[in-house]
Amino acid sequence: MLKTVAAFDRIGEENAFAVLARAVQLAAAGRDIINLGIGQPDFRTPEFIVEAAVKALREGHHGYTPAVGILPLREAVAADLHKRFGVDLSPDSVMIMPGGKPTMFMSILMFGEPGADILYPDPGFPIYRSMIEFTGARPVPVPIREENNFAFSADETLGLITSQTRLLILNSPANPTGGVTPKAEVDRLVAGLERFPDVAVMSDEIYDHMLYDGETHVCLLRYPSIRDRLILLNGWSKTYAMTGWRLGYAVWPGKLYDYARKLAVNLHSCVNASAQYAGLAALAGPQDEVAKMVAEFDSRRKIVVEGLNRLPGISCATPKGAFYAFPNIKHTGWKAKPLANALLQEAGVALIGGPDFGILGEGYLRLSYANSAENILRALDRMREFLATRKAA
Ligand SMILES: Cc1ncc(COP(=O)(O)O)c(C=O)c1O
Repeated sequence: MLKTVAAFDRIGEENAFAVLARAVQLAAAGRDIINLGIGQPDFRTPEFIVEAAVKALREGHHGYTPAVGILPLREAVAADLHKRFGVDLSPDSVMIMPGGKPTMFMSILMFGEPGADILYPDPGFPIYRSMIEFTGARPVPVPIREENNFAFSADETLGLITSQTRLLILNSPANPTGGVTPKAEVDRLVAGLERFPDVAVMSDEIYDHMLYDGETHVCLLRYPSIRDRLILLNGWSKTYAMTGWRLGYAVWPGKLYDYARKLAVNLHSCVNASAQYAGLAALAGPQDEVAKMVAEFDSRRKIVVEGLNRLPGISCATPKGAFYAFPNIKHTGWKAKPLANALLQEAGVALIGGPDFGILGEGYLRLSYANSAENILRALDRMREFLATRKAA
């Protein structure tokens, strides 16, 4: 019998990938499945970005790069953050990562161990809790409530910090709720964090371009009082429709940069060289395709919210960011996971049950509106018919 370490009995995963696999399987068997399950833009990576990767390969950029990423790309990230948020940072605090996820993996590894508490949003991206449990730290959920527009509450978050707390994970705009934490609340949270100088903060800002109704993004780098303990997670996956390229970046403070660099050397050596050149083109090139994509998400957001609010027993708050709707289904009589399963099996609509994002996700579904308006309308029709004819299981 192989004796592997216990941590692997605790590691979780993302049910969105399992739902995707089931949807693909049903479609292969001839079923017409509308996929509102997976969180990736349904657009192509802009052509000039693809061309930059091809050109890089043709020019011979196919070897290892520095583990932290090529300097021009780290400079471009620093310049972009300066241009968008007015923050000054050295390219030497920027690290190019193989996607957004590795930054959460590494940060949680740096702070998680038995006896440590890590605070994370619930409902929230499932990998936070999975990784916290993997390290043996105690996962402490920060409730993200519908009555608070799915924003972080500064008071509630600060009230959960104890002497055991090592790391606080923030995410705005948020997956799975589409919630955006307003600047005034972030101001209060950061002011409160001054009382807890030993607590590190990881801010997952992967949806920072996807904001609606005139909202502007609040980048945590703008707060000098936490700069020496702030880890920024961001990347190209969502903004430039580049999920499969595996390209992200982190900003690490102080000695954490060198820890992350060593982890990178041990783990992946460097990020795919041509993807890094593609990322450079994405930042340096025209941003109009990003704006077009966000405008398209905005119009679908209105369709999905309006349609969901017309369904019996369902109410849906208007998400201010990302590309997810998180409708409340408590008055349908269904629990969320049985409803999500039945909608896939019987109505051919793939979406995710709220409990896959945490205990407080019960009573909700997550719909990704990264699908055409036409398909969203067809999915809403199918849901209406299903709810009208099918009794709760
Ligand atoms: C909140 C959040 N953070 C990070 C990620 C991971 O992004 P990547 O695909 O770049 O690893 C996702 C992807 O769905 C996400 O929703």
